[in-house]
Amino acid sequence: MSSTNSENPETPENTQDFSFLDQTLRPSRFEEYVGQETIKQNLKILLQAAKERAHPPEHILFYGPPGLGKTTLAHLIANEMGCQVKSTSGPAIEKVGDLASILTNLSPGDVLFIDEIHRLNKMIEEVLYPAMESGVLDIIIGKGPSARTIQLDLPPFTMIAATTRVALISSPLRSRFSGGTFRLEFYAEDEIEKIVKRSAQILGITLSEGAAHEIAKRSRATPRTANYLLKRARDFAQVHRGDLSPKYVAEALALLEIDEIGLTALDRKILEVIIDKFKGGPVGLSTIAAALSEEMATLEEVNEPYLMQLGLLERTPRGRLATPRAYEHLGFELPEDLQKKLL
Ligand SMILES: Nc1ncnc2c1ncn2[C@@H]1O[C@H](COP(=O)(O)OP(=O)(O)OP(=O)(O)O)[C@@H](O)[C@H]1O
Ligand SMILES: [Mg+2]
Repeated sequence: MSSTNSENPETPENTQDFSFLDQTLRPSRFEEYVGQETIKQNLKILLQAAKERAHPPEHILFYGPPGLGKTTLAHLIANEMGCQVKSTSGPAIEKVGDLASILTNLSPGDVLFIDEIHRLNKMIEEVLYPAMESGVLDIIIGKGPSARTIQLDLPPFTMIAATTRVALISSPLRSRFSGGTFRLEFYAEDEIEKIVKRSAQILGITLSEGAAHEIAKRSRATPRTANYLLKRARDFAQVHRGDLSPKYVAEALALLEIDEIGLTALDRKILEVIIDKFKGGPVGLSTIAAALSEEMATLEEVNEPYLMQLGLLERTPRGRLATPRAYEHLGFELPEDLQKKLL
């Protein structure tokens, strides 16, 4: 277990070391956290009510695509409550004993942050239920007929969990997040622009007019990507001894194979495979993954949400479909049956 905040799943988008970026650029107060207005409003009420009752807020679940600010919110809540965060993740809690030691080491009012909660195993979940609901830990001592259960009282705490795969969380577990379950949305372009400008200021980067806008357009509506692209464009301008201008942004991102709507080479390959090899779909995710030699989970968690957000891809019960917009973006001619459907 650690109390740092750089535990992100290993996906192509974030295998780079973002820990430095994450810590300097991560907003720690509501005023600095851009966007997600409904979530912020709900959280402010939850926190204020908890403060007035002098009791930790109830347990909270955040879900949504990578890099939208789930971990950031967990730390922000702890900061606003003036309490400590103890961070761990689903796969890190292997045995019941691991969870017991985490829970018994909490101080009153602590936030327990569990990332990738969908990867928690069932046995651990069972132990978590009474801990979340009644603040007790049931421990079985001994084996066979002489086994007995003892119950330990836990200090009052707030569990905050995050996941990119909410569908994998069992409904009994979901129902125990009595403080609320919040879905993070992709950001609007002007929100991302604000984030880029804020990050540039913190990192001491001078942006020429329009450069923040150019970065925002290509950031997949995702703050983490925006910060990453800002840094890469800054490097590019620095090496070329120039100001960070829209022209350098475009050149830097072309070199990274990121196109004008933020698609990566892999995003485009996914659409190309569906259109070119499978006549536009429907085609199963496992087939696409096999054709590209990529992990299914990566495609599903990292690539697909943004492609769907842009209306380039559809998920149907029979598989994935490329939309007419995808044909257009990649410069493929629209087949006749799709043309007819559009009329
Ligand atoms: N609303 C926001 N305003 C400003 N910056 C943000 C916001 N949300 C996220 N960021 C920035 O983006 C980075 C990534 O956010 P964070 O690590 O919280 O994402 P996450 O949802 O936990 O992703 P993952 O699912 O990969 O764990 C943060 O370090 C922070 O700098
Ligand atoms: Mg996270």
